[in-house]
Amino acid sequence: MHNSHHVSAFRFPALHHHDVLQHKRALHSSFILSQRQYDTRLRSRPETQQLRPIPTRHNSRLGSNFCTPTPKLFTQFRLFQTASMQSKAKLTSKIAIVGAGEVGSTIAYSLILNPITGDVLLIDPKTEVRDAQAQDLSDATYHGNTSTRVRAADSKEAGQCDIVVITAGAAQKEGESRTDLIGRNLKILKSAIDECKPFRDDAVLLIVANPVDVLTHFAQEFSGVPKSQVFGSGTFLDSVRLRGILANKSGVAASSIDAYVLGEHGDSQFVAWSQASIGGVPLSEIVKDSEVEINKNEIAEETKKKAASIMQAKGATAYGIGGVAASICKSILFDQRNIRPVSHWQEELGVCLSMPAVIGREGIVRTIPIRLDDEERKNLEGSVKSLKEVIEEAKKDQ
Ligand SMILES: NC(=O)c1ccc[n+]([C@@H]2O[C@H](COP(=O)([O-])OP(=O)(O)OC[C@H]3O[C@@H](n4cnc5c(N)ncnc54)[C@H](O)[C@@H]3O)[C@@H](O)[C@H]2O)c1
Repeated sequence: MHNSHHVSAFRFPALHHHDVLQHKRALHSSFILSQRQYDTRLRSRPETQQLRPIPTRHNSRLGSNFCTPTPKLFTQFRLFQTASMQSKAKLTSKIAIVGAGEVGSTIAYSLILNPITGDVLLIDPKTEVRDAQAQDLSDATYHGNTSTRVRAADSKEAGQCDIVVITAGAAQKEGESRTDLIGRNLKILKSAIDECKPFRDDAVLLIVANPVDVLTHFAQEFSGVPKSQVFGSGTFLDSVRLRGILANKSGVAASSIDAYVLGEHGDSQFVAWSQASIGGVPLSEIVKDSEVEINKNEIAEETKKKAASIMQAKGATAYGIGGVAASICKSILFDQRNIRPVSHWQEELGVCLSMPAVIGREGIVRTIPIRLDDEERKNLEGSVKSLKEVIEEAKKDQ
């Protein structure tokens, strides 16, 4: 009793009896239609606008371009799809994630929860892990609130996606120097990029693997894609962490706080305190007038050390970067023009590091010329020097 009630409610939750009759009539009146005619008819009827094209059954008499809509069962299948797929069928873009480990799979999960793309493709030379991740993530798509599909793919398909997110990288081994790690990750980056080639003309490459600024520099070189279309997540994650700390202290939502961590995503990063504001009021004024204590050095240090303390306890950080990378993908696909601190080519400085930039479908639309005070400028020069040294060192090893 309970079951039969459940089944009928599940089949036709959004359609009235009248809609069902009309839809059946449409199918019966068009006994043989080409797939295109059939879809056009369905789309042109307001009550069926949410329907997705049905899979065409091969018809040996007419050839594979034709479908023969047959009575009842078929109609029900179609209506069943209406209920579960809703209007999200519009999403046709593809995002490839190269490296299906902790970070790559968490980015995929964020993309499922906030669907902005039709397909997420996972690429990893460890094919067993890749396939298992694809299956596990797919299980998170069947509940019906997402239209994003996840599947395993090869590198060539990745190159033809709208966005290629690169998380392929090795973790630092015990006793391994930073330079050795860079050497290892550079080799991985080069092979990952070479295998994806050729890239679609409008593909945007988002580098997430560390050291992200150095890898972004080399990804621009290895890929041959215009520099504005290759950038790294940079200090966006650090800035989000900073805003979280300030939000907790001030009792204001993190999204109402404007504060950037800039420079290298690493030791030489710095907070652009001179430009920080809450609700448009400069932080310096808020601090003067309020009882909330803002110890800038302590907060900057807590922000910088947050990743290390999480890693020490659980071995990796994934959720923060998952959310951040998915949000960057949204800015790109929807040409949102959000301003984010991401690692991109700095013509004047000759390196890739994080400065606020406008992000859109073409990648970096432009850099925002943020005004820094003397100390912040000195810190920026420190980041430039440190990154240039690492890049020179890495070039020698190549
Ligand atoms: N930018 C950030 O803010 C940020 C935050 C967290 C982690 N990370 C970085 O992300 C990277 C990945 O971290 P993780 O925890 O997911 O590591 P992980 O070891 O879990 O995953 C890395 C994956 O890359 C794969 N891989 C290796 N070579 C490849 C290739 N040629 N092509 C495709 N895939 C390849 C590996 O098989 C592995 O599955 C690391 O470099 C880490 O430091 C960056």
